[in-house]
Amino acid sequence: MPTTLTVNGKAHQVDLPDDVPLLWVLRDELNMTGTKFGCGVAACGACTVHIGGEAVRSCQVSLSDVDGDITTIEGVGTPAAMAAIQQAWVDHQVAQCGYCQSGQIMQAAALLAENPEPNDQDIDDAMQGNLCRCGTYPRIRAAIHTAAKQMQEA
Ligand code: FES
Ligand code: FES
Repeated sequence: MPTTLTVNGKAHQVDLPDDVPLLWVLRDELNMTGTKFGCGVAACGACTVHIGGEAVRSCQVSLSDVDGDITTIEGVGTPAAMAAIQQAWVDHQVAQCGYCQSGQIMQAAALLAENPEPNDQDIDDAMQGNLCRCGTYPRIRAAIHTAAKQMQEA
């Protein structure tokens, strides 16, 4: 029986087995390839999306377990809070190869929604599960501080 998923505000019907990981649904069925496959075992964060506003590893969520609206990196420009994060990433030139960055941004967005003024330790704690083999961690931290400031001033 088809399942209806709401992704970035748009409803999609998918007819796939219940145990298919959400990551495959997004990438292979809905052609939203911004969300990346890294490890497949919840150890890298590359596949991070939001379900009901919460950051989750989409490689570990089965289609039948999706229980809220999904936001992916393709929806990052809206709402305004996520636009501030996107701009901060550009301003700090955070990305190197870029592979991990959609997951980093989605994780950062969830952090800022929960804690609008994180300190360095808060950031490190929230982001520790998102790996970057290019070592962009200092720029990620700086971008999160900038986004936090912009969101407070807005
Ligand atoms: S691909 Fe999901 S956490 Fe690495
Ligand atoms: S920017 Fe290359 S893995 Fe993070």
